[in-house]
Amino acid sequence: DVMNFHVLTLFPEMISQGGQASILGRALKNGCISLHPVDIRDYTENKHKKVDDYPYGGGAGMLMQAQPVYDTYLSVKEGIEAEKVRVIYLTPQGRRFDQKMAKELSREQDLIFLCGHYEGIDERVLEEIVTDYVSVGDYVLTGGELPAMVMIDAIARLVPGVLNNETSADFESFHNDLLEYPQYSRPEEWKGKRVPSVLLSGNHAKIEAWRQEQSILRTKGRRPDLYEKYEEKRRVIERLLK
Ligand code: ADE
Repeated sequence: DVMNFHVLTLFPEMISQGGQASILGRALKNGCISLHPVDIRDYTENKHKKVDDYPYGGGAGMLMQAQPVYDTYLSVKEGIEAEKVRVIYLTPQGRRFDQKMAKELSREQDLIFLCGHYEGIDERVLEEIVTDYVSVGDYVLTGGELPAMVMIDAIARLVPGVLNNETSADFESFHNDLLEYPQYSRPEEWKGKRVPSVLLSGNHAKIEAWRQEQSILRTKGRRPDLYEKYEEKRRVIERLLK
């Protein structure tokens, strides 16, 4: 079960570069995932390789035209076995990307990402091919490539075999809703700061309890919004257990 990421873009090097490093790079070499940047410019019928034009009705900037985007999509689609493939358009107007969506998407065999540039893409081709409009956050970037790589990174690490540790048991619990506890490595003392003594105690029950407490305190301090959700979930479960 290899997962295949196809990225339709005017800047394929932004995708191939990002796929070289670290865990994503190793997963690509292992063959757990594959990453295929596809240059939309290669599919334009324009003799000057133009892929954009002025918007009807006027306004600032240029729009990516429907033809090159659609023909790139058709070519990629032809190489995919499945009848239905999700086509994700990266846009600040989309549904907000989160861990739940990453998990859902990690079950797909193929995903197609469509990256816009300039002031956007002709609406008609979006209507024709896009299944999911997704935003990575409420800020505006210059194109969809970085958001696509953000999504690919988050999804790829959920694909079996990409991470060495089998932490999938981690999921489905309160663990999800809390921030990670602080961690320490050697030396035991650095700039006068000592590693919390409980971590050197060898008492695994105590260590677990301390980490849980730290996670809760950290979440309350840094992400009060997540802490509220966690507390509400606990209240519901406590009520059900009575
Ligand atoms: N393209 C430009 N900004 C974006 C964002 N915040 N999310 C997804 N795609 C985008």
